Amino acid sequence: MNDTRCVLAYSGGLDTSAIVPWLIDQGYEVHAVLVDVGQDEAMEALRDKALRFGAESAVIRDAKAAMFDAVVPFAIGLAATYEGNYRLGTALARPFIAAEQVRRAQELGGATLVHGATGKGNDQIRFEYAYKSLAPGYPILAPWKVWPFRGRADLIGYLQSKGVRDDFAVTKEFSFDENLWHLSVEGGPLENPAGALDIDAVLKHVSDRFAGGVRKDKAPRMVRIGFDRGVPIEIDGAATPLPAMIEQLNRTFRAAPWAWDLVIENRFTGIKSRGVYINPAAKLLHLAIDALARCVLNKSSYDYWTRLGQEYGTLIYRGEYFTDQRRALEAAGRSLMLLLTGEVLLDLRNVPYAAQIQAPRGLFRESLATFQHSQFDHSDADGFIRLTWLSSVGRPVSEAAHEDALEPTGGVTSDLCATESVPGGGLVPATV
Ligand code: ARG
Repeated sequence: MNDTRCVLAYSGGLDTSAIVPWLIDQGYEVHAVLVDVGQDEAMEALRDKALRFGAESAVIRDAKAAMFDAVVPFAIGLAATYEGNYRLGTALARPFIAAEQVRRAQELGGATLVHGATGKGNDQIRFEYAYKSLAPGYPILAPWKVWPFRGRADLIGYLQSKGVRDDFAVTKEFSFDENLWHLSVEGGPLENPAGALDIDAVLKHVSDRFAGGVRKDKAPRMVRIGFDRGVPIEIDGAATPLPAMIEQLNRTFRAAPWAWDLVIENRFTGIKSRGVYINPAAKLLHLAIDALARCVLNKSSYDYWTRLGQEYGTLIYRGEYFTDQRRALEAAGRSLMLLLTGEVLLDLRNVPYAAQIQAPRGLFRESLATFQHSQFDHSDADGFIRLTWLSSVGRPVSEAAHEDALEPTGGVTSDLCATESVPGGGLVPATV
């Protein structure tokens, strides 16, 4: 391997732009890779920029198909989230960006792998885990961990000292990361949860990036999604490939009042951060698949499916993509997703909800659920309660450990609790 050749995941932003001349200063020959994951950027212009900043070569690689074949079907089919409300956009793309970088390094006969992520966040972990899995012998360099620069002003000053000019602003309120699945917005007034947040101001700022979006009052009020084995295949009856469906839903609804999630997240490094994620497609598809899963899966399987979604989401968030545990979770997930075929009609007039779910494998039985007259034998439930009580409760409160019978502390709730009737006929303070 040539020790002075390196392959940089180049985004066109200030950080990776400053990295190019800095690497040259350190004696490297820089090969930039621009990976298209559906960000709304003019990729050719960014390639020219990498060359202008001194890269020896700059190539554009398209990872959309790989990402949409491999990970996105599970992100949808398991309604995968991190901590319940982050729908994973950035985390879904990173392994595929790293894979293109490794491929480029292999074409060059081996190289040092370089990324522009800082030492604070998740992205450094995602990149470096992927490099270690895919190219274990290749050196890794993360300039933010070794160079003397501390912020944007330093980087702009450095670029000026190198004689390369661009339109980077010294202060930039927000940090964006975009791909076909989402747009993330972090930094500025979003950062500190103690600061009162004006979400409209943030969204207004972000809407600059949304030229061409469908106006709020023009967006459809209903949308019907057809699923085949856990994967969305139709929108309003029209067969639509997954990337096109995500693109269409995001474009149509990105100005909708419900299109974003405000998330306070615990990064893998432990640092807390708050951000806005604009991801209407992900939100709608998660809502629809969850409604379908509730109708189709039995009680235990539904419970397991939700846990798989949480585990898969956490694994993706932490960058553990190229791992045995990811394959195991996908195998388990696939076996339940196979049942998730049907159509979900979403009503989007206010807060979106699933208005109608048609599922050939649905387990709903009118004769069981109805409040109307039916043949259901209500006395069966007696035996059910007698036997399940043994394992779920198993002991009268009068025999329970002392600390279970806490003294009421006053107020309305404890007044109510104090009159709870217990087996044996006495009235004792209830557990709280
Ligand atoms: N907090 C999100 C995540 O860890 C988004 C990160 C966005 N990255 C960025 N470089 N702005 O997935």
